[in-house]
Amino acid sequence: MTAEVVETSVARIIDRVRRQVDDRLVRFLDAHLPPVDDPDVVEGYRLLREFVVDGGKRIRPILCYWGWRGAGGEDHGEEPAICAGAALELCHAGLLIHDDIMDGSDLRRGRPTIHRNLAGSDRQPADRGFGNSAAILLGVLAQAWADELLGEVGVDEARTRAVRMLFYQMRMEVISGQYLDLLARIREDAGVDHALTVIRYKTAKYTVERPLQIGGALAGAEPPLLEAYSRFGLPLGEAFQLRDDILGVFGDTATTGKPVVDDLREGKQTVLIAQAFDRARGPQRDQLRAWYGNPDLDERHTAVLRQVIVDTGALAHVESLIARRVDEALGTLRDGAIPAQAREALTLLTGRLTDRVL
Ligand code: IPE
Ligand code: IPE
Ligand code: MG
Ligand code: MG
Repeated sequence: MTAEVVETSVARIIDRVRRQVDDRLVRFLDAHLPPVDDPDVVEGYRLLREFVVDGGKRIRPILCYWGWRGAGGEDHGEEPAICAGAALELCHAGLLIHDDIMDGSDLRRGRPTIHRNLAGSDRQPADRGFGNSAAILLGVLAQAWADELLGEVGVDEARTRAVRMLFYQMRMEVISGQYLDLLARIREDAGVDHALTVIRYKTAKYTVERPLQIGGALAGAEPPLLEAYSRFGLPLGEAFQLRDDILGVFGDTATTGKPVVDDLREGKQTVLIAQAFDRARGPQRDQLRAWYGNPDLDERHTAVLRQVIVDTGALAHVESLIARRVDEALGTLRDGAIPAQAREALTLLTGRLTDRVL
């Protein structure tokens, strides 16, 4: 098969998986209507439903699907992979809702974040408090629903047990990663190494490594394949977050759906920024200290910070970290442990996830 034929057939399968996951989510949500008729509670459920159903690239379900295919799952009877993928998406929704509260983000997927939406427009402290608290509840609900849906995968007991263990492990890892991310904000000495650990736990594992393994375990994958998924998934997942961090500073809101100055204003301790701080000297350092994480950051100083990130070589360095991780992931695909069709799909997805055209 030529590269274009592979690309078209993989792209077609990805579209189909997205549709099936969306249908599965709708079916689940239709069966989980609010048990009380208070209009504001009903509105909260509606917002959560809209968030889950209308948006998101569905990266994790797509990887779960290919993990399952790579382990011998076939075209027919793919309901278990779709169901687990939908459960991953609910877990992801809960994580994003809580992440946006913790990061104080106003926009997600091109729309107001759930806590901002619930706070209403006048933004009195009491409204903000309500918005945050109600969004915490909805995030917890999404996590509870993820577990419930995972319970519906319908494979034999041994596989169900393996899938559950991976899913629960994944959630502890991502929560630990988010915790480390919070700590980076208050620890003076959190540098590049800490930032690299954060991205492994808060992103790489739950975005790539575990979804692939969960798909694999659903189809009864043996340890060598699960290990290959890990050798592929961790570097790819890290490259994905490193790209996200670059887009957080240099990207375009129209494509990312997230405000561009957020990361700078919020003082997010990314690998990119840790590198910039490490490398900055004299006036560069003064600019970073004065404006990074400053809530009053304006357009002019955003441009100054961007220039410092470029001039210190931090941007070029992070690009090289991405390239190295992409090479590592592709190297795993070449070593032959992952069967051909999944390998072709994962090769394509590696490019899409790290260039962000998915
Ligand atoms: C966003 O994940 C959070 C990160 C780990 C960077 P995605 O980029 O997969 O978010 P959606 O689901 O497509 O909105
Ligand atoms: C999100 O990390 C990771 C999780 C939701 C677990 P970030 O805070 O870096 O991602 P964005 O930029 O808000 O999507
Ligand atoms: Mg965030
Ligand atoms: Mg965050």
